[in-house]
Amino acid sequence: MPLGFGIIGAGQRCMYFFGPDIQRNADRAKLVALAEPDQGRRSSAIDDLGGDIRAYGDIEELLGDPKVDAVIIASPDFTHQELLDKALDAGKHVICEKPMATTLDDARHMARRAQAAPQVVQIGFMLRYAPMFVRIKEIVDSGIIGDLVQVSAAEIIEYYHGASFYRRWQRFRKNSGGLLVHKACHAFDVVNWIVGSAPTQVSATGNNDTFVAKPDAASRCRDCSLAPTCPAVYRDDAYNYVYPTVAERANPGELGNDICAFNSEKDIIDNATGMASYENGVRLSFNFATTGQRHDRRFMFVGQRGVVTASQADGTLVVEPVGGEIETTVLPEELRDEHGGGDEYLLQSFLDSVAGGEPPAADVVAGMHSLALALGATESIDRDGAAVDLRPHLEGLS
Ligand SMILES: NC(=O)c1ccc[n+]([C@@H]2O[C@H](COP(=O)([O-])OP(=O)(O)OC[C@H]3O[C@@H](n4cnc5c(N)ncnc54)[C@H](O)[C@@H]3O)[C@@H](O)[C@H]2O)c1
Repeated sequence: MPLGFGIIGAGQRCMYFFGPDIQRNADRAKLVALAEPDQGRRSSAIDDLGGDIRAYGDIEELLGDPKVDAVIIASPDFTHQELLDKALDAGKHVICEKPMATTLDDARHMARRAQAAPQVVQIGFMLRYAPMFVRIKEIVDSGIIGDLVQVSAAEIIEYYHGASFYRRWQRFRKNSGGLLVHKACHAFDVVNWIVGSAPTQVSATGNNDTFVAKPDAASRCRDCSLAPTCPAVYRDDAYNYVYPTVAERANPGELGNDICAFNSEKDIIDNATGMASYENGVRLSFNFATTGQRHDRRFMFVGQRGVVTASQADGTLVVEPVGGEIETTVLPEELRDEHGGGDEYLLQSFLDSVAGGEPPAADVVAGMHSLALALGATESIDRDGAAVDLRPHLEGLS
């Protein structure tokens, strides 16, 4: 009998990832319901996904649906804590999107709740299931480059994607925790996983340097004299990181998403750099940018007997062991995008866990560790680079 899924939030994550992924795994999973407060999105989502899917305006109705065995929380980040509590109260298994929460108090509460619950709770860190990162973890764990001593990691967001954050709900920290939380959480998570230890301390500096107010720009691209040469100008025909409804697609000019990425009100940074350390002595340096020519995540894992370097966008993974052969792997094109081909494996791992298999690799402790690094770095930026001790937040969680 396929596991019945209910998705909370009919946005882009539901419509372009989880919905189709569930439908592709029809022998094991069935999308039975959606909960979405916006009526237009709700009916459009049902039309687009097709099949026999119930649409609820009220989350409680979805949680009360006996055909829903598992819930996917795909609503904005600040809603996750309350929804996880409710889903566990209702007896559902849960995939909770990343970031787990936007505050450490919420995340700690969620981790404790999930660890005490009999249900499976998985966090949406699909890179833990992406072939490139699975391979890097195997290489590092094999010991071929010796014990790990340091890592450098860069999360580079493509410019138009970066600009989109300054138009959407993510531009306020109260919604997303800021971009180190909302976006760099993936890079932090794979590093935490491969290092295999808990972060203890972080310091960072950062700023909003690029997406700052432009006196000559209008508040909407449609009214702006700078639009013809602006690299962030809103384009109806671009992938805008939103799910436009059937009605909006019929009249794209009316979408209302063309808020100026520079003049919009916001309180998030657009670039950062920092350092962190781990319980096992490994040190991390990281960079975060939202002004890339293309998306990439780049890594160097330094061991006592060699290094591993990787670029997600190039699909290259190079292992350079001291005294050994250099081994270069080039991944196929379809594994080089931001999600690295990990989404469907994440779903399958969840289905395996619910069926009694191993607990998910992307668990609530992973969610907590990534959030601690990201929020700690954000706090450090607020305090001009002062080191932030993460240990009190992570005590007792493993
Ligand atoms: N794992 C990934 O790589 C990845 C990628 C994209 C988004 N996400 C995460 O998925 C979540 C959704 O992001 P998105 O980009 O789809 O956002 P979105 O804005 O496209 O969609 C969110 C939807 O949730 C609805 N919503 C708002 N408040 C709600 C509530 N209280 N209950 C139910 N629904 C509510 C909105 O109306 C909207 O339709 C976020 O947590 C985001 O961080 C993860």
